[in-house]
Amino acid sequence: MEKIIVRLHKKTYPIIITNKLFDDFSSFWPININDQIVFITNNKVAPIYLDKLTTLLNRSGIKTDQLILPDGEKNKSLNILNQIFTKLLKNNYDRVNTILIAVGGGVIGDITGFAAATYQRGIRFIQVPTTLLSQVDAAIGGKTGINHTLGKNMIGAFYQPIAVLINPSVLHTLKTKDFSAGLAEIIKYAIALDANFFNWLENNLNNLLTLNPSTMTYCIRRCCELKKYIVELDEYDQHARSSLNLGHTYGHAIESYQKYAQWSHGEAVSAGIIMAINAALHLKQFDKNDAKRVILLLKRANLPVQGPKNMTPKNYMKYMIRDKKSNSTQINLVLPIAIGKVKTFFNVKPEVISLSIQNNSY
Ligand SMILES: NC(=O)c1ccc[n+]([C@@H]2O[C@H](COP(=O)([O-])OP(=O)(O)OC[C@H]3O[C@@H](n4cnc5c(N)ncnc54)[C@H](O)[C@@H]3O)[C@@H](O)[C@H]2O)c1
Ligand SMILES: [Zn+2]
Repeated sequence: MEKIIVRLHKKTYPIIITNKLFDDFSSFWPININDQIVFITNNKVAPIYLDKLTTLLNRSGIKTDQLILPDGEKNKSLNILNQIFTKLLKNNYDRVNTILIAVGGGVIGDITGFAAATYQRGIRFIQVPTTLLSQVDAAIGGKTGINHTLGKNMIGAFYQPIAVLINPSVLHTLKTKDFSAGLAEIIKYAIALDANFFNWLENNLNNLLTLNPSTMTYCIRRCCELKKYIVELDEYDQHARSSLNLGHTYGHAIESYQKYAQWSHGEAVSAGIIMAINAALHLKQFDKNDAKRVILLLKRANLPVQGPKNMTPKNYMKYMIRDKKSNSTQINLVLPIAIGKVKTFFNVKPEVISLSIQNNSY
């Protein structure tokens, strides 16, 4: 079992990583007999894992309820959020005793967290992330929210869980495409923050792709440590946390343009990382050989290194101007200046952005 403690001003909580999570209640689950548990999950994850979790808690005398939502990024929406509130209100769940447990990927984690942040002004919630992306990134750090048709993650709150409980063995049932999406965020951490970790990924990617248990656990742990480090520095995303947005200004534009229905978040981030590198190359801030290393690693992880063919620079710009790092007149971007280091560039010229979106031949 691996344990990392996230220490914030108002809340301290553990991240636990163990393959025994679904077999051992008393060692890992911060739940008491009086707590009223509502599992929030989706129609893909529920048939595989919900019974196991319900049985585990019920065996220890904990009563559980559940809400199974439709799968997919387009359901990280106001309408589905309202379904959570309706379920809680109809069943008289109160502020003191209720704990929501998010069982699923980043979509379920983000919407459940936001429901917990806002239901009766805040109830407790636990993250049980079941995708690689959510285990290394989305479940940690308290960014919760939903999408709006006019922009990704535009409605939300900073609200921390009481625990993040990670079972890496659930990754066995993940589709290859969804697994790769997680690798995009992992590679993002390495480029943004940790050159040694980037080298490690180059050497260990094959073992990750075959789900080697010790390689997998090390990788998840390292990402959780990096995320903890950044979130403790800047819980409310005012300075350091923006480094984790590498590739996301472009990526979010792709997701919004496609109405959250085609590329996954991880795929969009992967193409976005390359666009950020292209911009840094145009600004003469990044090394061409390092750019080649990043492209190779993303390709080995089965990730896209170009944006969707039908999107024009204008399509990107429409959404990029609304990004949280930008303001209404200028686009600001987090760009890599070396492997392991990023910097925010303010008021990046539209020509540079336009060139960065086009395919680069290096
Ligand atoms: N809050 C944050 O800090 C943060 C950080 C990064 C990403 N995100 C958000 O996370 C979301 C993406 O998360 P994601 O990549 O996990 O996508 P996702 O939640 O859509 O999950 C991907 C797919 O895998 C399925 N799935 C989940 N667990 C499974 C399992 N163990 N076995 C088989 N199938 C399984 C899901 O049902 C879904 O079909 C985006 O909305 C993104 O904005 C949030
Ligand atoms: Zn992301």
